[in-house]
Amino acid sequence: MKSYREMSNEELKAEIDVLMKEYRQYQNMDLKLNMSRGKPCLDQLDLSMGLMDVLSSEADMFCEDGTDCRNYGVLDGIEECKELIGDMMENRPDNIIIYGNSSLNVMYDTVSRAMTHGIMGNTPWCKLDRVKFLCPVPGYDRHFAITEYFGIEMIPVPMTPTGPDMAIVEKMVSTDEQVKGIWCVPKYSNPQGYSYSDETVRRFARLKPAAKDFRIFWDNAYGIHHLYDLDQDYLIEILAECKRVGNPDLVYKFASTSKITFPGSGISALATSPNNLEDIRSQLAIQTIGHDKVNQLRHVRFFGDIHGMVKHMHKHAEILRPKFEAVEEILDKNLSGLDIGSWTKPKGGYFISFDAMPGCAKEIVAKAKKAGVEMTKAGATWPYGRDPYDSNIRIAPSYPPLNDLKTATELFSLVVRIISARKILDNRDKAE
Ligand SMILES: Cc1ncc(COP(=O)(O)O)c(C=O)c1O
Repeated sequence: MKSYREMSNEELKAEIDVLMKEYRQYQNMDLKLNMSRGKPCLDQLDLSMGLMDVLSSEADMFCEDGTDCRNYGVLDGIEECKELIGDMMENRPDNIIIYGNSSLNVMYDTVSRAMTHGIMGNTPWCKLDRVKFLCPVPGYDRHFAITEYFGIEMIPVPMTPTGPDMAIVEKMVSTDEQVKGIWCVPKYSNPQGYSYSDETVRRFARLKPAAKDFRIFWDNAYGIHHLYDLDQDYLIEILAECKRVGNPDLVYKFASTSKITFPGSGISALATSPNNLEDIRSQLAIQTIGHDKVNQLRHVRFFGDIHGMVKHMHKHAEILRPKFEAVEEILDKNLSGLDIGSWTKPKGGYFISFDAMPGCAKEIVAKAKKAGVEMTKAGATWPYGRDPYDSNIRIAPSYPPLNDLKTATELFSLVVRIISARKILDNRDKAE
């Protein structure tokens, strides 16, 4: 197809006329489709219904070490669950605390604790004039919501296909004592689906922070969420790397089974160094007598071990892969060569990231909505919900049935074409 930027004004106007006719047809279809929700679809949830069967009133509720899962206690989580989640996170059970049903909750708690009580004896962040976090962009809106909630200043750092721009990260972390953290989704990132390269992880482990209480918030939410059997991304394990280079306390690592079993009814965990664990346990012991061991036991009985979990993820991939591929095929078919947008082709995770021409994202999302297709709010992938380029749009292919997803993507790409063609005309007008 001819690039829109090479088309004359007349050609573009004629193109818009044709596209608008098509758009009106979509409007008449009374669609109600949603590409905004990064949650598993019904078929994916059905994969985990066995969780409901592994425990019954007849079940043996005791752990191997004799712990009765029905009763109080075991702050860190039951040993067999620490082993299972340890294998999932590639960390030793000793480095892990099993939490409740949400890793976001653990991240919130971790920031909250740093605010009120400080990290390992350092001044609580609430007593400091300014606290800053680095935020790779585009990123996950709920991370940004936590830091915004606590009044932490968020500084965007550009993402690249190999991870955040490390030259900027290194400079800011090593020179500014007010920089206390960075949000990272290191594998199949939200929303781009990028995975950090070996070099990026090594550079993270070797950071020399100006602040003693600087921590990397390493949210490995999509650690085993591959779409393909062979073509998989892998990460250097950050805790081990930090320890190896003499920086053992630098990282808090988070994960959960939200997109493995049931979001909201899964298991979350934190992995970190013994020093950090001790610091955290002293607060956790005030907060709870222990998390939900029945659910931990249920997950262990359901999966058996990490091999069971990997097989289970294979079934998720069978459902998700056609959806990702359908979106990518339709975007390719409708937008390739027009020079009006680019999109990622992740090998795992839950999202595809679309970059429209600057100044177009809000209008695209609004126009798609008018024809019944809901996208994630434009701007959501930036701190404070403000994308200075008004360009990034997150696409979530998991939830809608395949046919709905195809229709929604056709409509989305149609809208991208209309808004971009108008933008080019507009820009030419202004340039004259
Ligand atoms: C990067 C990332 N972290 C965390 C979460 C939420 O995790 P949880 O359900 O464990 O709170 C999500 C959900 O979309 C996510 O994308």
